[in-house]
Amino acid sequence: MNVLGEQAATLPEVDPQRPSVARIYNYLLGGRHNFAVDRQAAVAARGAMPDLPAIVRLNRQFLGEVVRRATEAGIDQFLDLGCGIPAAGNTYDVARRLDPASRVVGVDLEPVAFVHARRQLADDPAADALYADLLDADQVLASPPVRDLIDRDRPVCILLVSVAHFVPDTERLTTALAAYRAAVPTGSLLALTHACRKGPSPQVEQVRRVYNNTTAPLVARDAGETTALFGDWDLRAPGVRTFGDGCPTPGRQSESESAEQAFLVGLAVKP
Ligand SMILES: C[S@@+](CC[C@H](N)C(=O)[O-])C[C@H]1O[C@@H](n2cnc3c(N)ncnc32)[C@H](O)[C@@H]1O
Repeated sequence: MNVLGEQAATLPEVDPQRPSVARIYNYLLGGRHNFAVDRQAAVAARGAMPDLPAIVRLNRQFLGEVVRRATEAGIDQFLDLGCGIPAAGNTYDVARRLDPASRVVGVDLEPVAFVHARRQLADDPAADALYADLLDADQVLASPPVRDLIDRDRPVCILLVSVAHFVPDTERLTTALAAYRAAVPTGSLLALTHACRKGPSPQVEQVRRVYNNTTAPLVARDAGETTALFGDWDLRAPGVRTFGDGCPTPGRQSESESAEQAFLVGLAVKP
């Protein structure tokens, strides 16, 4: 069996003419797994919002900080929903560096992200990738990678970094997140970052237009809507906030004020 395993049969054809959010992000991270259409879309989005590379850096720093805090809290299992195309500083990279025994399962519905993740993890028995829509929580939770690698009797760190704003259906997203939260024990963590909806902004409107032609439209949410995604879990102080508002990341690279206000982030623990 090839490195993609049984999931190879379920992968759809990739349309090289349609930009993908996974490949655009890979380009913005300086990665090489992207096509000309992705680079064009990224350049258009960056043209409309010059802060975009800084926003990507801030997301990366937050991700690293979450994995570090989880590891310090003794958590060694990570469920990375919308894991993206592997690039330096992703969940697997940081978790493996901090704790060689940690277990990581990445889930993505972009075939290119899945294929590259699977190849990266092929030789690591403690990590795996799943090609799935995170909205199909029951299917994800019952899948062999999650069943085999994640011990649901011990705390798990669930991450959605720069992912939930690509899921426009709030009701399905809420239901899926409730299922993930219910499936893990007390002490588990949920971390997410989310494009922040403020007042009308021509910049955001232009970026939204770019993403409307990709594999996933962009839907910014406000602080109340983002807070609701954590359900009844205890948000760590200072709650859902922008990168710029009381971000505790030590040594965090300072970015422009507008970049620091563009996203909402939060980290919560299951009581
Ligand atoms: C901006 S990238 C972020 C990737 C990664 N979390 C990171 O921080 O590097 C968003 C990722 O979410 C994935 N995604 C979007 N909607 C998804 C869904 N419903 N289920 C699974 N993955 C999804 C995309 O395919 C893409 O790889």
